Amino acid sequence: MKSGKKIAVVTGALGGIGTAIVDSFLSNGVVVIATIRPGSSQRATDWKKKRFDNNEHLHLLEVDVADHSSCEKLIAQVKEQFGRLDILVNNAGITRDSSIKKMSFEQWNEVINTNLTGCFNMCKLAFTLMQSNGYGRIINISSVNGQKGQFGQVNYAASKSGIYGLTKSLALEGARKGITVNSISPGYIRTEMTSKIAPKILDTIISEIPVGRMGEPEEVAETVLFLASEKSAFITGSNLAMNGGQHLY
Ligand code: CAA
Ligand code: NAP
Repeated sequence: MKSGKKIAVVTGALGGIGTAIVDSFLSNGVVVIATIRPGSSQRATDWKKKRFDNNEHLHLLEVDVADHSSCEKLIAQVKEQFGRLDILVNNAGITRDSSIKKMSFEQWNEVINTNLTGCFNMCKLAFTLMQSNGYGRIINISSVNGQKGQFGQVNYAASKSGIYGLTKSLALEGARKGITVNSISPGYIRTEMTSKIAPKILDTIISEIPVGRMGEPEEVAETVLFLASEKSAFITGSNLAMNGGQHLY
């Protein structure tokens, strides 16, 4: 497919923040490849119809970001079907919260493999494709808890703070090639992910957010849209914190 529109891959597109990012990209003339996990094609087809009225600029492709060969297959499909890639949003992510004494190696590995290695897998392949076109915007979704840490999240916080080192280093590699690489660190956002937190714990967390509320997925999507635009060309290797004042540094 040839088009003057920008081509974006959004991982974890079916989730709360992913859906808002897809929506904002489509509303701003971006062609979106929404990635879905293998086996979720029926759910994804329903989502595309219900949420986006089968928008012709929205495409669904499968990927398990934790599996490098699955990422290779995805990027090969993008290259074949769209010819290039302008924007990558590494949004797929999971939590497996537990205090360290109870945390299994499986809980550690799952989170590191999805959130950090998944980000590496997608960056490595997308960067090569973007480089061939001399342009790119990579946005990695980290977290306030990657910045400040959180009780019960040694796995998640490690994966999300690992994203900062990856982002800054890759920004240096992309700087002369027209590719910017940045991260966004949202605070607590109203999605499926935060709905798993015990209500009492969540109430305590919200009481510690100076603006007095959780964030909305659409607020994250607005920030992604800005970093994904051509106008953000001088911003690279940075992290944009958006947490309602919960963590200031
Ligand atoms: N600070 C200090 N001590 C704490 C604590 C805290 N925040 N929370 C629990 N404790 C203490 C308890 O008082 C208890 O102490 P005693 O043993 O002396 O009685 C002990 O720790 C309980 O330890 P357990 O291992 O039994 O913990 P648990 O099973 O009760 O709960 C947990 C563990 C499920 C991880 C729970 O602490 C929790 O839900 N924490 C919040 C995690 C969180 O914020 N997750 C965010 C998910 S969404 C997300 O991550 C998105 C994003 O990027 C923001
Ligand atoms: P969500 O609703 O649970 O969405 C997460 C998405 O990631 C889902 O679509 C999920 O697929 C997908 N995913 C999980 N593992 C994957 C894998 N191995 N390969 C491909 N896709 C995978 O969570 P969210 O709140 O929107 O979170 C999106 C991102 O923001 C995550 O990186 C999260 O860590 C980060 N974040 C969230 C918050 C918050 O408060 N919500 C705050 C800071 C940062 P399925 O739909 O198939 O499960």
